[in-house]
Amino acid sequence: MNKTMQQTVDHMMGFFKTKTITAALDLKVFDHFNDQPQTVEDLATKCSLPPVALDRLLIALVSMDYLNKEGREYILPQAHKDFLLSDGSQWLGWLGRHIDTFLYPLWSNLSTGIKQDNHQREAAFGDDRSWFDMLYQNLDDVADFQEFLGKFAQPFIEGFTSEYDFSQHKRFLDIGSGIGTLPIAVANKFKDIELAICELPQARSFLLDKLGEQGYGKRIDVIEGNVITGELPDIEYDLVHLGWMLHDYGHETQMIILRNIFQAMPIGGRFIASETPLNDDNTGPEFTSLLSLNMLVSTDGGIESNSSTYIKRFKDAGFSNVRILDIPGPRTLFVGEKI
Ligand SMILES: C[S@@+](CC[C@H](N)C(=O)[O-])C[C@H]1O[C@@H](n2cnc3c(N)ncnc32)[C@H](O)[C@@H]1O
Repeated sequence: MNKTMQQTVDHMMGFFKTKTITAALDLKVFDHFNDQPQTVEDLATKCSLPPVALDRLLIALVSMDYLNKEGREYILPQAHKDFLLSDGSQWLGWLGRHIDTFLYPLWSNLSTGIKQDNHQREAAFGDDRSWFDMLYQNLDDVADFQEFLGKFAQPFIEGFTSEYDFSQHKRFLDIGSGIGTLPIAVANKFKDIELAICELPQARSFLLDKLGEQGYGKRIDVIEGNVITGELPDIEYDLVHLGWMLHDYGHETQMIILRNIFQAMPIGGRFIASETPLNDDNTGPEFTSLLSLNMLVSTDGGIESNSSTYIKRFKDAGFSNVRILDIPGPRTLFVGEKI
């Protein structure tokens, strides 16, 4: 088998690895490694699992470098604990559950999704409500989605808050903030700016709980709204951010969102959207191009775009001085002003 053929086989069998790691997280296998190495027999008792089947899983996890093995004992390396133990600050179990519950069934219908140029929610779940209505019907699913997105956003937020001077603004509104990680990071660094979030009603109670738990309940205002129907706060914000949301919607809806934001903003206000655009010649990058397929099967027309398409949409919506702001980290900032 030549190298390219081998790579193709690896891609095709990639789901073996996906399901091995999501099953291990689902079964909470790693949690018993917090204090000490485990034999398969001890672990099987603690997890109430059949030892022979569990051993197959452990051997696979060793082969994938998630566990080490010495003699009869399996060991979880220290460096993995933060994201594999369910009380670790970077726990990836949120993502695992979201994959198992939503993404894997939706992606099973990818070829039909491409043929029909349509989402596969009906085929996968018999459910034709919007992506967010379906996702937000259950509090555990809200938590899974928002928690892993909050972790994904962390490197972007570090780059944004270190490079951008938020103190030049009086009031900052983060639309579709999710778990609120960006306003929290801004609150920690810029003491004087007023902060607010506008989120869908179904995401609000989870968000309020998270902000309250961390002591930001008073510092960050939470307003229910919908940027597509134009239900936006009455107060004027001189800085508005929309993170990783344009790509959740089709071209026409993206234009409605941008026009609604433009209309709601005061003269002199600045709007920033953070996205992970396609390369200018639409050759990738790989993650964004796969995310675009993910949007196809899950959302109503959500799609990834390249930078010049985002810039054109901003201009068509009425924004001036439209430009890209490069910051460290995974996202690109698209900036426009209302003059
Ligand atoms: C993919 S998440 C992005 C979260 C976060 N802003 C980030 O950058 O990682 C999209 C967020 O937008 C919110 N959202 C989706 N449609 C919305 C709408 N029409 N109006 C307001 N918020 C919306 C969702 O509830 C979700 O929290």
